[in-house]
Amino acid sequence: MKRFVFGAVMAAALIGAPAAFAQQIVIKFSHVTTPDTPKGMGAERFKALAEKFTNGKVKVEIYPNSQLYKDKEEMEALQLGAVQMLAPSLAKFGPLGVREFEVFDLPYIFPNKDALRRVTDGKVGKALFAKLEPKGIKGLAYWDNGFKIMSANTPIAKPTDFQGLKMRIQSSKVLDAQFRAIGALPQVMAFSEVYQAMQTGVVDGSENTPSNMYTQKHYEVQKYALVTNHGYIGYAVIVNKRFWDGLPADVRTQLEKAMAEATTYANSISQSENDDALEAMKKSGKIQISTPTPEATAAFRKAMEVVYTEMGSRIGKETIDAVLKETKAN
Ligand code: LMR
Repeated sequence: MKRFVFGAVMAAALIGAPAAFAQQIVIKFSHVTTPDTPKGMGAERFKALAEKFTNGKVKVEIYPNSQLYKDKEEMEALQLGAVQMLAPSLAKFGPLGVREFEVFDLPYIFPNKDALRRVTDGKVGKALFAKLEPKGIKGLAYWDNGFKIMSANTPIAKPTDFQGLKMRIQSSKVLDAQFRAIGALPQVMAFSEVYQAMQTGVVDGSENTPSNMYTQKHYEVQKYALVTNHGYIGYAVIVNKRFWDGLPADVRTQLEKAMAEATTYANSISQSENDDALEAMKKSGKIQISTPTPEATAAFRKAMEVVYTEMGSRIGKETIDAVLKETKAN
């Protein structure tokens, strides 16, 4: 009987029977931001395209805002196959043991998005994805969020204002070194816990993109923000490699097409989403947002320069040089 049912399902699949009869492939896509962020919107677009291009053979279930897993757990869940797709920030790959990814956390490494794109779309981006494969992970795309700003509950305008401030960071040795370089006390914390930590004074401030600060409502529990644009947050869209390699080839091709289109979309809206979020926070009247003077920016750059030497051997000179070469090309 079992064998008959299996045979019937296979036959139906082979002759292109309705998707409802053949077994549907489910992709669980977990992430930590809200649906109205560059990542959340990219995920929704991927779902729509993937389901359309595969004629419903694939169903994508999105679990936003850390509702399934927090930062670290998410990566473990993917490796175990409990979820199939994630888009963790690039900072989350250092703790996985792929330290070369920490190059993205270096302060002031990307002068603009074009330079960043040359890195992610070029040799460096490919080489980094290759390093994920022995971990059972396949990298599909790089999605932007944007450049980071600082927030705190005391006035911040220049590096010395951060002396002694407890600043939340993602779990990255480079980000730790960056804040120590300006005298702050970095505190590693999961993204979903930051709002409460700010509200209760467990941390004094943080760095993040305007879109993350806005959608997580950090601006309600922080008094000041400084538009430093000192670093970058972007994502690697990744899948469980065994799951991906085991997909029927035609389905995988359609999913690759959906991912390519979703990537173009996600990267086309990231800047405006961040610009709008910054504006909305300014308009809220709840947080005072300022821009550093050229002198203050120069002082931040100078103070943080030490991170390159401190973290050089950890990240790997080859990777840093390859990135710097791309950022200097025109
Ligand atoms: C953070 O943990 O601050 C962010 O990287 C979260 C995200 O995914 O944007």
